[in-house]
Amino acid sequence: MLAGSIPLPLTFIHITDSHLGPTPDSLVHYYNPAAALTATVEDIARRASDASFLIHTGDLARNSRTPEGYECARVVYGLQGRAGAPGPLTMTAAGLRLDWYYVPGNSDHRAQCLSRLFCPREGIDYRFNHTWQQDGVRFLTLDWGACGSDEYTLEPDVFDWLARQLRVREPTVIFTHHPPVHVGVEFIDRDTPADLPRLQDLISESSVIAVFHGHTHHAWENRIGDIPVFGTGSITFRENLSRPELREIAPPQYRLVTVQDDGAVDAPVHHVPGC
Ligand SMILES: [Fe+2]
Repeated sequence: MLAGSIPLPLTFIHITDSHLGPTPDSLVHYYNPAAALTATVEDIARRASDASFLIHTGDLARNSRTPEGYECARVVYGLQGRAGAPGPLTMTAAGLRLDWYYVPGNSDHRAQCLSRLFCPREGIDYRFNHTWQQDGVRFLTLDWGACGSDEYTLEPDVFDWLARQLRVREPTVIFTHHPPVHVGVEFIDRDTPADLPRLQDLISESSVIAVFHGHTHHAWENRIGDIPVFGTGSITFRENLSRPELREIAPPQYRLVTVQDDGAVDAPVHHVPGC
């Protein structure tokens, strides 16, 4: 049984890379990401309204120069309430009442995200490195802090913070934007830090039970040792993996995640029909 085991299984929703424009009508390369997100939220209301929470792992706004995308997100999700990062806010669209958490990616402007969606707290780091507990599981948002760039590095203070957090031997789920593994695609893997093995060693020696990431815009499943690493496809269009200058239209995705009583994590991908 997991520590403090209150009724499990626990379910939550993983969603990522919406890349919203300034308004729900905004097109990005002739694609309307807000419409795709609305269809996704409606599908979640039909299939998973009793989930414990939803987590979005970055690239909520189109890019770091489009902070109006955060107001667009507020409208599309029907976000209500006030909280510090990473949440929860309450999403109310499609009749839902679901806790909503966020960790940014390379397309986010962190200060704008904080001021437009959350309650910025004086003297608090602009990066979204936080933990919270729910039903015997600890959830951790890991933010390397890359903004407006596809490059990211294992900043020493973030690495040290993570190392301290992972000394706590509790079942832990990590949410982060960049994949903490190589996925076998050159234009994605070249952005990962040279010392990626340090991060993987830290995770594999910890009590982490799963990692969820975005950034790839395609679904992926990898492992760090025995620990599953789940990437989820984007809400917005996807880059062609062989020719990234080409865009592909595909149904938006989310994962409906279940944490079983023994700590096993099941995370099937749901494709939103009709998109
Ligand atoms: Fe993205």
